[in-house]
Amino acid sequence: AAAELGPYRHFMQKEIFEQPRAVADTLEDVNGIMPELFGDGAYRAFREVKSVLILACGGSYHAGLTAKSWIEQLAGLPATVEIASEFRYRHILPDPDTLVVAVSQSGETADTLGALERAMELGMTRTLAICNVASSQLMRRAALGFVTRAGVEVCVASTKAFTTQLVALYLLALALAETRGQLGEEEAAAHLTALRHLPLAIQGVLALEPQLIAWSEDFARKEHALFLGRGMHFPVAMEGALKLKEITYIHAEAYPAGELKHGPLALVSEDMPVVTVAPRDALLDKLRSNMQEVGARGGQLYVLTEADTGFSSTEGLSVIRLAEHYGLLSPILHTVALQLLAYHTALARGTDIDKPRNLAKSVTVE
Ligand code: G6P
Repeated sequence: AAAELGPYRHFMQKEIFEQPRAVADTLEDVNGIMPELFGDGAYRAFREVKSVLILACGGSYHAGLTAKSWIEQLAGLPATVEIASEFRYRHILPDPDTLVVAVSQSGETADTLGALERAMELGMTRTLAICNVASSQLMRRAALGFVTRAGVEVCVASTKAFTTQLVALYLLALALAETRGQLGEEEAAAHLTALRHLPLAIQGVLALEPQLIAWSEDFARKEHALFLGRGMHFPVAMEGALKLKEITYIHAEAYPAGELKHGPLALVSEDMPVVTVAPRDALLDKLRSNMQEVGARGGQLYVLTEADTGFSSTEGLSVIRLAEHYGLLSPILHTVALQLLAYHTALARGTDIDKPRNLAKSVTVE
């Protein structure tokens, strides 16, 4: 195993740094935006569906939540995202005109398989699996499929599989838009260019590692952390909180920043760092006032932002800037920074990073 690790201390670190390659590989055979990327028969299914239902667990669920924004915005289709273990056992109003998308790194998660099966039993037969393992059960059961090319992921906490899922889901949103006549050729080309630039943009985020190490030194001494985001960066905050709790055992929660005043503000003190995902998007000013609510109560803010957002580090506020705002693909870049924060915090705490206590890489039983 030492040889496989190369210069890295843990598989998690290695897998975080493999992301530019994983994303590039996932895009390798993508020569245009078209439904066929998702298999034979995708054109017909994508044309006929009136909504999208995403089913997943864990990090894959967060990827689905991010994709909801993309599908709604790019393809104009309503999208819902459900935790597979919940979907399986609730009263469902089946809709045969829904595209059911099961997202899973392993393709073997029992709850996700069960949820897909349940959807199919209810007559929802337009199914698509997005998996990192081509031979997985989920890939075999779904009518359509897309294989992410992250490569084998060893660390229990998912990193490169997550970002490649986002790439696949972005392609899905674009392919749905294209099939439905909502994506011009030039627009499609521009999206592809942005996707192809991602590996380089991710390199830029990886280069922020020293600054994230500095943050991790503070976090390692805390027992609680709050992650805030808005819009499509709320799922990024959720993923950041999940990574932190999985590998550092620090209690971490994510909140959409506008909900602060409805509860979590009561928890804010200097003992609970507040990470804010603050990209330069339409919600920035709203977020800024949410941050003031935290600052006014003595909370320590850690702001992940970009050039030109006007934040500067002061007492109680520490800023890390990504080089550029990446539009709709911005969640991918902000996620990478939060992965590094979790990794280095765990390193400082001396936990078993690749095999956190009580967790399994793939949960194949209910
Ligand atoms: C486990 C893993 C997580 C993963 C989840 C879903 O809990 O520890 O990293 O996100 O399962 O797994 P899947 O293979 O379905 O994406």
